Amino acid sequence: MKILHIDASPRYSRSHTRKLTQDFITLWQEKDPAATVIYRDLGKALPSFINENWIAAAFTATNQRTPEQQQQLNESDSLVEELMTADMLVMGVPMYNFGVPASVKAWIDQIVRVGRTFLFEPEDAQPYKPLLTDKPTIIMVATGDSGYEPDGPYASLNQVEPYLRTVLPFIGINQLHFVYAGNDEFGGERLAQSLVQAELQIQHLVDGPLLR
Ligand SMILES: Cc1cc2nc3c(=O)[nH]c(=O)nc-3n(C[C@H](O)[C@H](O)[C@H](O)COP(=O)(O)O)c2cc1C
Repeated sequence: MKILHIDASPRYSRSHTRKLTQDFITLWQEKDPAATVIYRDLGKALPSFINENWIAAAFTATNQRTPEQQQQLNESDSLVEELMTADMLVMGVPMYNFGVPASVKAWIDQIVRVGRTFLFEPEDAQPYKPLLTDKPTIIMVATGDSGYEPDGPYASLNQVEPYLRTVLPFIGINQLHFVYAGNDEFGGERLAQSLVQAELQIQHLVDGPLLR
């Protein structure tokens, strides 16, 4: 069992998403001590933004790429490999301006790759085909306010969960579990209660049938 652990908060000791992803992994490893973890810190090392050369390389057939084009895709190739070899994905995603942080978007732009993580077959009625093997994916979302869950009063403002529920299944990752920790901006009892609820959900996920 290999877990890909991804954090994105540029905060460290004050980050709720970092604490929650680590708590999940600690509990998981108590249950399964043989589980190994690959760590990717998007808060520390921002993936490159894609550019014109990257796009040209990605849309050139593998056997027709120049060595320079191949080099353009090295970072993307290693991020894709890392994701493909993982049996489980644990992500910490702060909400920034209602969406994912730019670091997470940069990572997604590197791993959603035609011919690698999805196929585009224009002649087919369903031209897009995911290429990744499905894996349980636990996404910890921290927010300054609260109520962004699908049944919450601010659900319509939430561009994190709907976006990740669109893009991850597009490449084959369907088993998504979201854990919310809200009220960072309020602090005090409201924040404390929200963190308790998040920890309970984490415990529930670890105890439950995540791996089917
Ligand atoms: C640039 C920025 C934008 C933010 N945008 C939102 C937002 O749209 N909605 C919200 O509820 N909180 C927002 N927040 C608050 C964060 O989501 C909150 O502090 C969260 O705990 C950050 O995750 P972390 O604790 O892992 O660093 C924002 C914070 C920052 C720094």
